[in-house]
Amino acid sequence: MSEEIYRSPRKTGRVAILLSGRGSNFRAIDDAVREGRIDAGIVLVLSNKEDAPGLRTARERGLETLCLDPKLFATREDYDAEIVRRLEERNVDLVCLAGYMRILTPVLCRAFKNRIMNIHPALLPSFPGLHVQQKAIDWGVRFSGCTVHFVAEEVDMGPIILQAAVPVLRDDTEETLSARILVEEHRIYPEALRLFFEGRIEVRGRRVFIDG
Ligand code: GAR
Repeated sequence: MSEEIYRSPRKTGRVAILLSGRGSNFRAIDDAVREGRIDAGIVLVLSNKEDAPGLRTARERGLETLCLDPKLFATREDYDAEIVRRLEERNVDLVCLAGYMRILTPVLCRAFKNRIMNIHPALLPSFPGLHVQQKAIDWGVRFSGCTVHFVAEEVDMGPIILQAAVPVLRDDTEETLSARILVEEHRIYPEALRLFFEGRIEVRGRRVFIDG
């Protein structure tokens, strides 16, 4: 059976951000866009939570925002279908999950296959799920870090694009380790977008190859 190969497009990209909270990864991406480090524009910041601080930041920065209340939809699939509609009407090339705390249904995953990225605060496939910085401390690992990956239907298990490692220190708390990891998140997430729109990312099966 021949392996499916996907190559990211070399173009000025149209990016949508999905977030549920603070939005510091969104800010890091937006800063990189504004500084010309990524050849892209953020065309929509979408949230499931009206009071998400990241949504407020997006408005302050003059970006188009949209809040869709999950309670107004009968099923999770209906909700994701509405997101797909909103993304398609804006010709979005790449969707970036930035602290988006909902599990995507296949409706969204399939519509944007290889075109949804996520940032996760652990070295996947170790520690998928939530509160993973505390789990890394409790497990006693010497290193943790963060992972930018494409989103597949199995949660936190899509092809890995970039990772960065940080040490776990003897006196770390969830807060101190999270802060150390976050510095790396803000570095590698914009970097992944830059590579994507330089057309340098190739996905073969579950492996990602980066040109150059
Ligand atoms: C980040 O640490 C991100 O890695 C994590 O949520 C935080 C969001 O922060 N995401 C996940 O845990 C996804 N499973 P932010 O809103 O400041 O970007």
